[in-house]
Amino acid sequence: MSKPAGPPKGRRTTVALKLLMAGTGIIFIGYVLLHMYGNLKAISGKESFDTYAEHLRTFGEPILPYSGLLWIIRAVLILSLVGHAYAAFKLWKRAQDARTQRYAVKKAVSSSLSSRWMRWGGVALLLFIVFHILQFTTRTITPGGDAGSPFDRLVNGFSLWWVFLIYLAAMFALAMHLHHGVFSASQTLGWTSSALSRRVARITGWVIALVISVGFTIPPFLILIGVIK
Ligand code: HEM
Repeated sequence: MSKPAGPPKGRRTTVALKLLMAGTGIIFIGYVLLHMYGNLKAISGKESFDTYAEHLRTFGEPILPYSGLLWIIRAVLILSLVGHAYAAFKLWKRAQDARTQRYAVKKAVSSSLSSRWMRWGGVALLLFIVFHILQFTTRTITPGGDAGSPFDRLVNGFSLWWVFLIYLAAMFALAMHLHHGVFSASQTLGWTSSALSRRVARITGWVIALVISVGFTIPPFLILIGVIK
């Protein structure tokens, strides 16, 4: 009997799962970049931030209903999150099974350390997103008090040092996740075949991680120290 062409099924599935992680990860990077840009409008003041928040809802009217774009974005994010978490869990299970069956080649300590970082960092980010949505979208948790204006809700929340600290910790976790995620995605997409391209992927990971985490932290920090009020 002739052997089937191409890599074995197990390896094909692993590659498909990694592609799913990389693709959904790129969607998240696009989203957080836009979200960060929107948040920076808080520096220009209440009118600028509140107008932006309203535009997010009226964008595309009358072709789209009110909040139509927001719901499209939400649907894409939820589907991506399900895909990203599913692939992460499956890949972790596969690595786990391979280890107990003694199939796996011994991995470098640093590689298993960073994958542990990714796993627990990912869980921490998931918890943060739940807290974040309860705070700013459903307004179930309103530290500092609720308000009619999105800008006032932002200022109320980040005037409290402990709310700032929760976000600071989350931005640190996000930076680590992005740094490693960008490198892993580059590897999956075959962009790390030479020493130079590996270096470029690593530096790109750090730049994306720094820009996003610092960009997100600026408005809450300016609120905490009373520059934005
Ligand atoms: C310091 C960091 C952040 C601040 C100050 C912030 C602020 C906000 C605010 C004010 C809203 C409500 C916007 C509105 O309803 O008009 C919001 C919504 C949201 N944020 Fe953030 N955000 C931060 C980081 C993040 C990060 C890192 C993520 C994702 C990883 C994220 C994901 C979301 C999501 C999914 C929504 C809900 C959008 C919706 O469905 O209405 N945020 N954020």
